Amino acid sequence: MIYFNSVCTKMSLLDSQVIGLKHVLLIVYSRFIFLLKKTSYLLSLFSDMFTHHLIILLTVLIISKADLTCKTMNDSLVSCTADTTGNVLARNIVSDNIYTTVITIRSCRISEVENEAFSNLTALEYLDLSRNKIQILNFGVFEDTQLLISLNLSYNQLANLPIGIFDQMTRLTHLDLKVNKINTLVFGIFDKLRELEYVDLSDNDIMGRELHPRLFDNRPFIKFIDFSRNDMIAAPGNWLQTFQSLQVLNLNGCFLNEIPAFAIKPNLRPLKQLVLSNNQISNLQNESLFVHLENLEHLDLSHNIIGKFLKIKHKKKKKRKKNIDGEIFQPLRKLKTILLNNSKVKIIPETLFRNIPKLTKIDLSVNKIEEVPLNAFKGSPLKDLNLSNNRITYLQDNFCLDLMRSGSKLNKFLFDSNPWQCACLTEFLREVKILGIEYNSAKYERKELVCVTSTEFICKRNPNVIDMYVNTYRQLMGSTAML
Ligand SMILES: *[C@@H]1O[C@H](CO)[C@@H](O)[C@H](O)[C@H]1NC(C)=O
Ligand SMILES: *[C@@H]1O[C@H](CO)[C@@H](O)[C@H](O)[C@H]1NC(C)=O
Ligand SMILES: *[C@@H]1O[C@H](CO)[C@@H](O)[C@H](O)[C@H]1NC(C)=O
Ligand SMILES: *[C@@H]1O[C@H](CO)[C@@H](O)[C@H](O)[C@H]1NC(C)=O
Ligand SMILES: *[C@@H]1O[C@H](CO)[C@@H](O)[C@H](O)[C@H]1NC(C)=O
Ligand SMILES: *[C@@H]1O[C@H](CO)[C@@H](O)[C@H](O)[C@H]1NC(C)=O
Repeated sequence: MIYFNSVCTKMSLLDSQVIGLKHVLLIVYSRFIFLLKKTSYLLSLFSDMFTHHLIILLTVLIISKADLTCKTMNDSLVSCTADTTGNVLARNIVSDNIYTTVITIRSCRISEVENEAFSNLTALEYLDLSRNKIQILNFGVFEDTQLLISLNLSYNQLANLPIGIFDQMTRLTHLDLKVNKINTLVFGIFDKLRELEYVDLSDNDIMGRELHPRLFDNRPFIKFIDFSRNDMIAAPGNWLQTFQSLQVLNLNGCFLNEIPAFAIKPNLRPLKQLVLSNNQISNLQNESLFVHLENLEHLDLSHNIIGKFLKIKHKKKKKRKKNIDGEIFQPLRKLKTILLNNSKVKIIPETLFRNIPKLTKIDLSVNKIEEVPLNAFKGSPLKDLNLSNNRITYLQDNFCLDLMRSGSKLNKFLFDSNPWQCACLTEFLREVKILGIEYNSAKYERKELVCVTSTEFICKRNPNVIDMYVNTYRQLMGSTAML
C-alpha cells in the first residue's frame, strides 16, 4: 500500500493530463525501470521486458485494494493520496473540521463525491480536486464552504454544473475548470461569484453559439478568462460586455475565422494580452479594428491565415486604393510583442509595424515572406525579430544598421531556413557579427544547406531573381522544404 501511495504522489507532480490506467501504468513502469537500473540490468533489455512487467503490474493493480488516505498536516492543511480506481470521496474523509483551510486531493482517481463530503468545512479557502475522474457534482455539495477563495476542478470529467452549485462561494476569486467535458453553462451559474477574477474553461465542449449573452454579467473584477479549445464561433457579441478589468483573454484554437466582435469592445480597454492563435482568421475587418485596445501588450495571431488579408489589400493598393491594412496595428500604442508566425504572410505592408512605441518583439517565422521592407519596422524599438522559415533570398544593404539608426535596439535576429543567396548571406552575417546581434550561429557552423549560389558570387537584390533562388533551394532541400 505504501508503494502505491507513492505512485499517487508522484502522479500529482506530473504536469500533463493524468487520467486513466494507461498513464498510471507508465508511471509504475518508470519506477520499475528505476529499480531495475538500481539492480544494474542492461538498459537495452528494458523494451523487451516492457510487456512482461506491464502484465504483472496490471495484475497487482487489480488485486491490491487500498483506499483514499488523507493526512492532516497541521490543523489547517489536508493532503490526500490514493491508488485504486473509482475512489469515493465520502463524508469524514476531509469533512467536519472547522479549522481546515487548504485541501488538496489531486490525482486520486476520485470518481464520486458524496453530497456531504465537504460538510462543516467552514474555514476552507483552497480546494484542489484536480486530476480526478469526477463526472458529477450535486447541488449543495459546497454548501458549507462559504469562505472558498480558490476552487480547482481541472482535469476531471464534468459535463455540466448544476445551477446554484457555486452560489455559496461569494468570496471565490479563482475557478479552474479546464480539461473537462463541460458543454453547457446554465444562465446564472456565476451570478453569486461577485469577486471572481480568474476563470479557466479551456479544453471543454462549450459551444459559443449556445452561450447566454449575460452569463458573465456584473462580473466587473474578472481579470483572466481562458476559453481556449472550445468552439467559440458565433459566440454572442456582447457576452463580455460588463467586464471592467479584463487583462487576459485566451481564445487559442476556437475555430474563429475573424477577430470576434466581443474581443475588441470599448469595455476591454484594460486588456493586456489577447491570444487568437490556432484559428482560421483571415479577415481583419478594417483599420479601426483594434482602436479600443490601447493597453494591449501581447497579441498572438500565430497559426492563422492573416497573410491572405494582407495580400489582397496589397493588390488593392496597386489599384491606387488606400493601403488601409498597413495601419491595422497602429492603434496598439502599448504593444510589446506580436506573434504572426505560421500565418501565411507573404507581404509586409510598409507601415505595418512602423512607429509602434513599445514594440520589441515580432515573430514572422514560418511564412512566405520574400521581401522585407525596412520601412515597415522603422521607428519601433525592436529587439527581437524572427524571420526564420520564409522565402528570403536577400535583405537590403545595411538592413540592421539602418534599422538601428531608426530607433530599433535589435539584439536578436533569426533568419535561418530561408533560400538565401550565398553572397547576400555572407554580407549579412558580417553585418550582424559587427553589430553584435545574436542569431542562431550554430546553424551556420554545421554542414547544412544554408544558402544557394550561382557561379558568380554577387548578391542580387532584385525581386525578379527571387523565384529562381527559391526553386533551386527547394530542389536542393528536396521534399523537406515547405517554401
Ligand atoms: C500549516 O502548514 C502550512 C504549510 O506548511 C502553513 O503554511 C500553515 O501556516 C500551517 N498552519 C498552522 C495553523 O500551523
Ligand atoms: C457538522 O454539521 C452537522 C450538520 O451537517 C451539525 O449537526 C454538526 O454539529 C456539525 N459539526 C461540527 C463539528 O461543526
Ligand atoms: C489546478 O490544478 C492544475 C493541475 O493539477 C494545475 O496545473 C493548475 O495550476 C491549478 N490551477 C490553479 C488556478 O491553481
Ligand atoms: C470596423 O470594424 C469594427 C469591428 O468589426 C466595426 O465595429 C466598425 O464599424 C468597422 N468600421 C468601419 C469603418 O467599417
Ligand atoms: C509562434 O512562435 C512562438 C514563439 O515566438 C511559439 O511559442 C509558438 O508556438 C509559435 N506558434 C506557432 C503556431 O508556430
Ligand atoms: C523563431 O521561429 C522558429 C520557427 O517557428 C522557432 O522554431 C523559434 O523558436 C523562433 N524563435 C524565437 C526566439 O521565437
